[in-house]
Amino acid sequence: MTKLAKRVATLHTYPMAELPAIKRRLIQQGVDVIDVGAGDADLPPPPVAVEAIAKALRDPAMSRYAFQLGLPAFREAAAAYLQRRFGFTVDPFKELHPLLGSKEGIAHLAAAVLDPGDVAIVPEPGYAVYHGGTVLADAEPYGVPLTPRTGFLLELEEQPQEVLGRAKLVYLNYPNNPTAAVAPRDYLERTVALCRRHDILIAYDNPYCEITFDGYVAPSIFEIPGAWDVAVEFHSLSKSFCMTGWRLGWVVGRPELIAALAKVKNYIDTGAFLAVQAAGAAVLADAETIARGYVAQFRARRDAILPALASSGFEVESPRATMYVWVPLPEGIASAAFQQRAIEDVGVVVLPGSAFGAGAEGFFRIALTTATPRLVEAAERLGKVLAAV
Ligand SMILES: Cc1ncc(COP(=O)(O)O)c(C=O)c1O
Repeated sequence: MTKLAKRVATLHTYPMAELPAIKRRLIQQGVDVIDVGAGDADLPPPPVAVEAIAKALRDPAMSRYAFQLGLPAFREAAAAYLQRRFGFTVDPFKELHPLLGSKEGIAHLAAAVLDPGDVAIVPEPGYAVYHGGTVLADAEPYGVPLTPRTGFLLELEEQPQEVLGRAKLVYLNYPNNPTAAVAPRDYLERTVALCRRHDILIAYDNPYCEITFDGYVAPSIFEIPGAWDVAVEFHSLSKSFCMTGWRLGWVVGRPELIAALAKVKNYIDTGAFLAVQAAGAAVLADAETIARGYVAQFRARRDAILPALASSGFEVESPRATMYVWVPLPEGIASAAFQQRAIEDVGVVVLPGSAFGAGAEGFFRIALTTATPRLVEAAERLGKVLAAV
């Protein structure tokens, strides 16, 4: 019998792994399921993406291996977007690299920068891939709970000196999934300063930078002086442009870090489909305008569900960014048990805090991924669960 690697046992079950099968079972049983679990909006992709990929599909050259170079036009469009949007310039061929969705690059970064036994600081709640990528690199995740006390900011100054001394990497994600917190500039400044002192690389995960409301504009970590030396930043077409299934993102950072990640990727993938990169280039040429259209819809959804949640007994602050609502549960109610009841009793799929790490108990996440009337109904149904627990 093959004995599996220890890291497989160490990895947690992926939070979303079992949900599609559960949803399918409920639908087969005739349940009217409302799925606000995964961060995967029901909105159609930008028409410009569909037109660009349709055109690219007719070009046989687009069916060949992309290799790590990928489509130069995609690299150039991503660099031009960063320049327009955040005001910094990168070499699209040395300081930027296409990814098969940002998840892929986030997962593989650990293999490029961590040795076995190195520590990576991981926010809890946090995107599961921070923990998973670290474990797959045989390194040690050190979980830091994100709580309302710090505005869900990961405060490195509060961590033990011993951990800061051993840490080589920290994952930061603002606007944040799942808490929807945003990072004030002074927080980013002091975090960059600390990482420079302790030589800790920041993996700044920025897929929600366009999904912001009420006048808030999310920064890039590279707007902070000194960040270039201690950070890489991940971007994605998935959320801002409703292209989750297309699998396209990019990473930006110092040439030696980009080259190390590209070296790892050479042994794992042969690049995102060129036709998808052509579509990505077309979208990025008009990124801010396209994103604005989606953001208006997410805002309308947010503004509809918040009063419905309040009437159902949930106290939630209005998120200034992302497509998520992070809902506190009354003391003593386990989030996994609440999720189970929500699915089985009222057919609403949410994600429990516990799916985002041990430090995330006491909350559940709603994703604004379905039409307003369904969101309002989901809030009403969840209220019935709350009343019954
Ligand atoms: C915080 C965060 N980072 C990265 C990703 C990955 O996005 P993608 O791989 O689709 O670019 C997600 C997706 O849910 C996310 O929430």
